[in-house]
Amino acid sequence: TGKRAFIAGVADDNGYGWAIAKALAAAGAEILVGTWVPALNIFETSLRRGKFDESRKLPDGSLMEIAKVYPLDAVYDIPEDVPEDVKANKRYAGASNWTVKEVAETVKNDFGSIDILVHSLANGPEVTKPLLETSRRGYLAAISASSYSFVSLLQHFLPIMNPGGASISLTYIASERIIPGYGGGMSSAKAALESDTRVLAYEAGRKGKIRVNTISAGPLGSRAAKAIGFIEKMIEYSYVNAPLQKELLADEVGNTAAFLVSPLASAVTGSTIYVDNGLNTMGLAL
Ligand code: NAI
Repeated sequence: TGKRAFIAGVADDNGYGWAIAKALAAAGAEILVGTWVPALNIFETSLRRGKFDESRKLPDGSLMEIAKVYPLDAVYDIPEDVPEDVKANKRYAGASNWTVKEVAETVKNDFGSIDILVHSLANGPEVTKPLLETSRRGYLAAISASSYSFVSLLQHFLPIMNPGGASISLTYIASERIIPGYGGGMSSAKAALESDTRVLAYEAGRKGKIRVNTISAGPLGSRAAKAIGFIEKMIEYSYVNAPLQKELLADEVGNTAAFLVSPLASAVTGSTIYVDNGLNTMGLAL
């Protein structure tokens, strides 16, 4: 209650970012979102036209308000990093101040400070390729968009985060167990994200009294997941093999996120928390 959250990685109402935004809004937080520049137009238009109104409904019947939508491309830290072809791209040229540093500055100018930072974004251009066939460029792109993007966001937002605040990201068990098909260096990117969660928990804890955790989520048929190509199979596998044989709802991840960034979790930092119906605990499923 009375807190302000910046959620990076919301571009429709299907993903984990949206569900986290709702859970935080339901708990009384003010919601700011960062939307990938190429998806900005359609997201804002859909929002304005009421396309998301049904899924904006909170448990008390009110609609989630998004105080402001910021264009963001988390693979660029400062304007000087942006290549000419991206600058010239008409989807990018139509927006401004979308590098990480600029977004943090704009949020500071608009609102002064935040309490909660959520990283719910990933991208791996070669995700459908096995690691053995992944190019250096594809691998580094996966790490840049999916792991360093969190380091950069925390780096730039930490100075405007109120002490006692918290940040979270979303990871996947392919970081620690073999998930054939989660390729292109995405498994490596999630391993980096989890390791960074620990180191950043230490650094941001000491520097700004900020907690850093990551949620290892089970499979969800989001837009990003559909791009991987076998999400339906993963959902079915989980349903058959997990201790809890039920559909995993994005809201269940949202609720855990709300807990983790709240004072109820005031001693939890540096952790990878599983929200996967328990699938990670199975050895042999019968
Ligand atoms: P999603 O499609 O709702 O979210 C991914 C978002 O990342 C999209 O809004 C996309 O526009 C944004 N994005 C991509 N590149 C970006 C960039 N350079 N700058 C800014 N934004 C960028 O999909 P989902 O699945 O909810 O993904 C959210 C997080 O959850 C990701 O970290 C994903 O790896 C993680 N996750 C997803 C699982 C699933 O089965 N869907 C399972 C475990 C983790």
